[in-house]
Amino acid sequence: MPISFDESKRIFKLDTKTSSYIFQVFEQNYLVHLYYGAYIPDNGVEDLAMRCCNASFSPANAIIGEHGFSVDSWPMEYSCNGTGDMRISALAIKNHCGNASTDVRYVSHRIFKGKPALCGLPSLYTMSDDDATTLEIETIDKVTGAKVFLLYTVFENYGAMTRSVRVENSSDKPMDIQRVYSACVEFPTMDYNMMHLYGMWCKERTLTSHHLAHGIQSVHSKRGSSSHTHNPFVALAKDDATEDFGEAFGFNLVYSGNFAADIEVDFNSSTRLIMGINPTDFCWRLDPGESFTAPELVMVYSNAGVGEMSRIFHRLYSNHLIRGEWKNKKRPLLINSWEAAYFDFDDDKLVAFAERAKELGIEMLVMDDGWFGVRNDDRRSLGDWYVNENKLKGGLSSLIERVNALGLNFGIWYEPEMISPDSDLYRAHPDWCLQVPGREKSIGRNQYILDMSRKDVRDNIYEQMASVLRNNKIDYVKWDFNRNLTEVGSALLPPERQQEVYHRFVLGTYELMGRIVNEFPHILLENCSGGGGRFDPGMLYFSPQIWCSDNTDPIERLTIQFGTSMCYPVSTVGAHVSACSRTGYETKGNVAMSGTFGYELDPIKLTEEERRIVKKQVKDYHKYYDVIHFGDLYRLIAPTENSHRCAWGYVSQDKSEALFTFVTMLRCQNPTFYVRLKGLDPDKYYIDDETDEIHSGALLMNAGFNLKNRPCSDGTSYTIYLKEVKNK
Ligand code: DGJ
Repeated sequence: MPISFDESKRIFKLDTKTSSYIFQVFEQNYLVHLYYGAYIPDNGVEDLAMRCCNASFSPANAIIGEHGFSVDSWPMEYSCNGTGDMRISALAIKNHCGNASTDVRYVSHRIFKGKPALCGLPSLYTMSDDDATTLEIETIDKVTGAKVFLLYTVFENYGAMTRSVRVENSSDKPMDIQRVYSACVEFPTMDYNMMHLYGMWCKERTLTSHHLAHGIQSVHSKRGSSSHTHNPFVALAKDDATEDFGEAFGFNLVYSGNFAADIEVDFNSSTRLIMGINPTDFCWRLDPGESFTAPELVMVYSNAGVGEMSRIFHRLYSNHLIRGEWKNKKRPLLINSWEAAYFDFDDDKLVAFAERAKELGIEMLVMDDGWFGVRNDDRRSLGDWYVNENKLKGGLSSLIERVNALGLNFGIWYEPEMISPDSDLYRAHPDWCLQVPGREKSIGRNQYILDMSRKDVRDNIYEQMASVLRNNKIDYVKWDFNRNLTEVGSALLPPERQQEVYHRFVLGTYELMGRIVNEFPHILLENCSGGGGRFDPGMLYFSPQIWCSDNTDPIERLTIQFGTSMCYPVSTVGAHVSACSRTGYETKGNVAMSGTFGYELDPIKLTEEERRIVKKQVKDYHKYYDVIHFGDLYRLIAPTENSHRCAWGYVSQDKSEALFTFVTMLRCQNPTFYVRLKGLDPDKYYIDDETDEIHSGALLMNAGFNLKNRPCSDGTSYTIYLKEVKNK
């Protein structure tokens, strides 16, 4: 049984095949954390909570303090504010008297098969009740009457679990939730490196790592979305862990708004991690009888290095987060109009793109920004989702018919949460955007932000979108989001609920996206936010792929895609070949192939030689699709290492085929270079598709692959495709 409860010791044990997570109902019903790490068979681990040392003046509980217990020093399963635990707290609820001291204690629990969905929020799902087991702990803060339910779901076969929290007001007075993190996780030591993904526009999800230090370290977003600057992902890798060995704990929040991941190393050199909605500018009024659900935190444990942590995330998300018709369906090879034309297109130009794209073997044309209202630049018309017939002369249906007649499918661009001041929608409803009375609204990319907390706003945008999608044969939607939230207030909410708006905005976006996905399940939805500014598991619940970055330079993309691969599977990574000039088309293709693959250029401008390469890439895309999209990723050389190279590969589940890619970022002095491959079966023999050389998996992984005579000047790259040979 993946989840058990030892009645005599009152110990909960949550096991996957590789990990155990253990905590106890201690005296006076405090929940005390005991262990998280590699699988252990034992139940008798109650001593693990003890800390010999308290901080100066650590408060002690008057009755059980004599055992050395203090909420200030012991590992607490869900830390509370203002009642003795002076470290970072996961929960603070202000009662009707205005006091935010909080203290939840165990009441009861239930264990059941399967996994419940979270109200209004995206979350991992199960196909059958056998996929996962759930533990729900009921706790109560007797003074406020807040019932706090701690939810744990164990995905036994993945080395993974999910956490969430639900607060119910069982009192007869309102209360204000000031902070409600999705989980608190305790470690007895501080010998970890904190890994996380930072960045900016065109430099998203750059991996960085530093050793834990005493005190608090955190990453967060206050931008209203998960953001370019920090991703809701952190990992703690043991000091001796590497890509392939040692322990790594990965945490990823299924949420697309303001988040915080806070880590505190205390006076005992113990580590506490809390992760959830950012409490800055958050306060949720909970009236009697109401409940609030915190987003889900995914926790992955690997005892085979950071690489295995990533592969667990990839499998888990591919099977239990990505949904709908496109979950396992082959994604179309598309060409997008943005970098080819920006706002400067009409129906004839798009049809000309489609004609040339068809000759190259491309399967879908995506018409990006600029098709609606009078959107001839980025200064107007967001919110006016009707076709600009000056550009698309016979209307949208006629354009789509012409594109379809060439044998291509058709996709379209939206930015549903935004509104231009110069738009019919804004002129009609100036109160529909986020605003704070008396304050000038900040402008970003010439646009304001719709108040997605309002149902009337969502209904209007939904109807506008749905009427285009209902009346035209549209196979794909790119959903963009091009600024951060400011002056976050809603004209409809009372003062005591204004700090709910950030979260209500996210809930509203999820609701709108859910409606589109439900009514148009055949449409492939690709998320985007100025590139990858909203690349998070919350969005992946609705859209199986996300445009990774507006940076299409293949060398800079290496760092972005490398960081993205920490927890997001390759099938989710929107990656295109563009006309940027840093490398030749081979390298652009080899890098974009580690993603959904497509083109973002004017196909008419391609030279004969470039057309030849593109045709070969299209063939390769089909040839390698399965091994890339359904195989396991092995990172060989990080782009940040000193070798000026980057290398990675995909190995099929049965280890019968593999594709490895090598990129030379800067010319290397020594062209002789051995790279040890990974993930192969040591007992199998593999033939190199290009040279017909046959080697064992053991040789390729231990001696390495000799990259003799391979291209090694700046920006060059190549792939090695290996296939198992049965009769060597
Ligand atoms: C930002 C996106 O990242 C681009 O790909 C493109 O869609 C533009 N927005 C359009 O305005």
